[in-house]
Amino acid sequence: MLIQDTVLINDWHPIARSADIVEGEPVAARLLGEDLVLWRSADGEIHAWRDLCIHRGAKLSLGKATKTTLACPYHGWVYNGEGRCIRFPAHPEQCPPAKAQAKVYQARERYNTIWVSLGEPERDIPVFPEWDDQRFKAVVCGPYKVQAGGPRLIENFLDVAHFPFVHQGSLGDLEHTALSDYQVDVTPDEIVANDICVWQPNPIGVGQGAYMHYIYKVLRPLTAYLAKQDEDNSGLALLFTITPVDIDHSLVWTYEATTTKDESDEEIIKFQEGILFEDIPVVESQRPELLPLDLQAELHLRSDRLSIAYRRWLREKGVTFGTA
Ligand code: FES
Ligand code: CO
Repeated sequence: MLIQDTVLINDWHPIARSADIVEGEPVAARLLGEDLVLWRSADGEIHAWRDLCIHRGAKLSLGKATKTTLACPYHGWVYNGEGRCIRFPAHPEQCPPAKAQAKVYQARERYNTIWVSLGEPERDIPVFPEWDDQRFKAVVCGPYKVQAGGPRLIENFLDVAHFPFVHQGSLGDLEHTALSDYQVDVTPDEIVANDICVWQPNPIGVGQGAYMHYIYKVLRPLTAYLAKQDEDNSGLALLFTITPVDIDHSLVWTYEATTTKDESDEEIIKFQEGILFEDIPVVESQRPELLPLDLQAELHLRSDRLSIAYRRWLREKGVTFGTA
């Protein structure tokens, strides 16, 4: 059942890696509780439809794709690339009526990923400027399945106070738990925290522990971004986005762009995976599962300023998915 959150219905969400959707092999996916079939026709185009044949409700993802069509596994109804049924095998002489039509959603490819919107998106897929910047190399990490709601996962990405405890030795250090204040600017389009300073035990290219400065942004209800701010011109940026599969399941995607050339793609993925796998047990343990948007519901510190802004922003936008 489609989860009725108009903000998220009208947004773009990553749904699969581009390379995983190949011609001739329809794949089942799930977004906001809606079962989808994804398939690629011979012209390279991606199709994302409700995974349901309007004849007797069989899953089209179990069917057969040709270069231009998808056929239902049950009685063989044939759908063309626009989702229009063009043939009833039981009555080959009959011209299917216009209402013999699959529910078609918008799909696009960006960052080696297929993105789907279940509605009418006002904004494009979130922008990750470093992806197209020649100085950076970019790697897709994920998707990883997590049994937690999207807003809890985004808030975890925005939270640096947990680094010394959850990511001791990699992102943080128990000798340096104190955080300095930072400012948060909020507009309807994004939240920006311009200078979040974190002690890191072993930042790339520094050779010893150091205070590192980051800019954090929330770009969408389920997409955030960070970039390292430094003078030496070495760059690191992450786009972190969540696929809202259903109310308590998410897919986590991290897109990393870095100017450091001495790490292989596999090393980058292994590092990001290690961080995420440290986060997952904690985030999956959080109760309530739904992120409380009532600020009285949990206690807050000054260092929680960014997550407070995120909760307010979700509330102002009317995001109901994964929130309470
Ligand atoms: Fe799809 Fe009958 S259920 S053709
Ligand atoms: Co973490």
